[in-house]
Amino acid sequence: MNLDPIALRAALGQYATGVAVVTTVEPDGNPVGLTINSFASVSLAPPLVLWSLGLASNCLSAFQNCSHFAITVLAADQVEISNRFASVAAQHRFTGLAWTPGLGGAPVLDGGCAVFECRNEARHAGGDHLILVGRVERFSRSEKPPLLFHGGRYRGCADLP
Ligand SMILES: Cc1cc2nc3c(=O)[nH]c(=O)nc-3n(C[C@H](O)[C@H](O)[C@H](O)COP(=O)(O)O)c2cc1C
Repeated sequence: MNLDPIALRAALGQYATGVAVVTTVEPDGNPVGLTINSFASVSLAPPLVLWSLGLASNCLSAFQNCSHFAITVLAADQVEISNRFASVAAQHRFTGLAWTPGLGGAPVLDGGCAVFECRNEARHAGGDHLILVGRVERFSRSEKPPLLFHGGRYRGCADLP
């Protein structure tokens, strides 16, 4: 079946998501990370989450081989962090940024509205992406409002009338 990829992307973009930065650390101690919106909860017992990583990503081998990764759900005031981890060169993404090493050394970014520190539990083929399943070993949350992504644009939360 021949699907129009631009129309497909636009239809998928109707599914509003949050925005997160997923991070890990390479064996030499170098922090790596990228912006994602493919994050989803999978299971509460056991506590599993998933996200997908493009096979062309510079971070592919780091996330395939790490013991842990951390998912920082971005707050509405963190558009700059989202843009930074989506487009700035990989070696400059953590420059001047406030973060602390979490489980397995995976960087936890300051200022998010939730953090999930995960054991790298399983990986599955997913077309041009790799699906990573994480087992949540520690988490935290704040009351900050989340950053949203819809129709290819950042959005904020608004209550329905
Ligand atoms: C809102 C948003 C969501 C994104 N979601 C994903 C995603 O789920 N998976 C992915 O691999 N890339 C995603 N990207 C693209 C990556 O952030 C981007 O390609 C990044 O430059 C990859 O860097 P790397 O090649 O150094 O890993 C997203 C970008 C944005 C702005």
